[in-house]
Amino acid sequence: MVELTEAFESIFKTKLAKLLRTNRFGKSIYVFNELDSTQDYANALPITKSVHGAIVIARKQNVGKGRIGRSWISPEGGLWMSIVIRPDFGADNIIFTQFIAALAVADAIQQTTNIKSRLKWPNDVLINEKKVCGILVDVNLESKDKKIVMGLGLNANIESSLINNYLTADTTKATTLKEEYGNDIDLVNLTKSIVDRIEYYYNFLISGKTLEIIELWKQNSDMFGRRAIVYDGIEKIMGEVVDIDQDGSLIMKLEDDSIKKVTYYGNVTFR
Ligand code: BTN
Repeated sequence: MVELTEAFESIFKTKLAKLLRTNRFGKSIYVFNELDSTQDYANALPITKSVHGAIVIARKQNVGKGRIGRSWISPEGGLWMSIVIRPDFGADNIIFTQFIAALAVADAIQQTTNIKSRLKWPNDVLINEKKVCGILVDVNLESKDKKIVMGLGLNANIESSLINNYLTADTTKATTLKEEYGNDIDLVNLTKSIVDRIEYYYNFLISGKTLEIIELWKQNSDMFGRRAIVYDGIEKIMGEVVDIDQDGSLIMKLEDDSIKKVTYYGNVTFR
């Protein structure tokens, strides 16, 4: 058993390192058969020069973490990955790290399965209105050792019932790539595509091309013109989704025709 799990770790790591064409992302790769959370592991990595772009992957997580304090069901077969970034930018740009992660996942899904996924603000990737990937960004910009950890939970080769049986009524239903595509996906190839595309979009971000990121994000979303309920941390806002502002916030038109900007990364459900 020990031999088998070691084989998974080293085979995954060696194959991925061979495939990657990136300059920075994925230069350090940590693969585990099992972790409580790749996010915790990545958050605890010491801040060195070379940690920027490090990726942490687990075959399964025992205590996977979702947004807004939720847990994330992470059985074997999914892609559970955290990426460390030592940012060259300030707090204003954090939301764009979520946008580039979602864009990268959508591109990778298209490259590996030809399926067109859609994005939901702030950071979900959907197929047929169901969530296939969630993104969690942990940020520490306080100390001189700035660090962002971008966590991706992609339901790849698993049964959606494993997830949907545990969801509360107000949560978007889950789907999986295996169910949408009809076959298992090669996780190493999928990871390679995601990491390549994250580096691609990260270069937009560090060269100040946030408007281009927003434009691309909008082209990959069906939210606009739809009626939605957004929870901004204090209240539930009901209205029509109008646009994404240049700071990345969501612009809503309320029932009384007034305009409201939602900046807190709350939950969006469609009506
Ligand atoms: C969400 O709630 O939509 C975000 C889910 C993020 C889950 C991923 S899986 C890899 C990384 N490790 C974790 O514990 N969480 C993130």
